[in-house]
Amino acid sequence: MTSAPLAKPHTKEREVQLTSQDEVIIQATDIVKTYDTGKVKVEALRGVSLTIERGEMVAIMGPSGCGKTTLLNCLSGLDVVDSGRVLVDGADVNRLSDNRKTEYRARHMGFVFQFYNLLPVLSAIENVELPLLVSGTSARRAREKALAALDTVHLRDWASHKPGELSGGQRQRVTIARALVNDPAIVWGDEPTGDLDSTNANEIMDLLCDLNEKHDQTFVLVTHALEVAERTGRIIKMQDGQITSDHRIIDREAGIWGPAVQTEAG
Ligand SMILES: Nc1ncnc2c1ncn2[C@@H]1O[C@H](COP(=O)(O)OP(=O)(O)OP(=O)(O)O)[C@@H](O)[C@H]1O
Ligand SMILES: [Mg+2]
Repeated sequence: MTSAPLAKPHTKEREVQLTSQDEVIIQATDIVKTYDTGKVKVEALRGVSLTIERGEMVAIMGPSGCGKTTLLNCLSGLDVVDSGRVLVDGADVNRLSDNRKTEYRARHMGFVFQFYNLLPVLSAIENVELPLLVSGTSARRAREKALAALDTVHLRDWASHKPGELSGGQRQRVTIARALVNDPAIVWGDEPTGDLDSTNANEIMDLLCDLNEKHDQTFVLVTHALEVAERTGRIIKMQDGQITSDHRIIDREAGIWGPAVQTEAG
């Protein structure tokens, strides 16, 4: 695989240093997910295994319908697998009660999904502080943290604006601020730059790469855009519910890719 010149290289050194000694944060073993709509059965995931280490930034690519969103949903516990096992931070996601799962997600995960829409009647800051208020943070503390998160995405001056008064890129940054407000260990993105033009997409990726480097947060991003995927440290490709390739980027500028990532046996 070769790679085109990129806007800004990122965390090259750390990726090269990753070894099996690094801490595993997500481990999926042979996960299977079939949707049964009554008329047809769709095998959305057909035996997916993968290991992601803390602080990695991973892109998941593949044609429409190959199972990318289903994989994110199953790894994050939004959906349950039919068989196989998902460990997140050592905990078996499918064995947690719904309450524990919801609590775990609220505390440790952030979501930048397109269907996680902003509430139009709330201002930017109210949208961002919502997850904190839901998980019991005091109003004052929630406001402070939400302002800090908006600051991180360069939107402090837009805090009182409603989503309808913001551009697409600004709205997406509010979504990111909301995903980050709890300092999540893992951030899941399903087409986080999907609706944006290339300038805005690049800015969002600058931001995500920066957060990944500074806070060692783990990012798992589904994307159709190769220029987005190439900004991460690893590209997993899927087809028909299976992983078809999984490589770390060793030297992006030189177009050097690591050997296939080995998934440890669960
Ligand atoms: N809730 C559901 N009920 C029935 N089938 C579903 C459901 N969700 C997904 N599927 C099917 O599972 C397969 C994988 O869907 P998924 O949404 O994971 O694909 P994707 O790779 O994210 O596609 P896209 O790039 O278009 O978002 C598809 O064939 C889809 O029709
Ligand atoms: Mg999808």
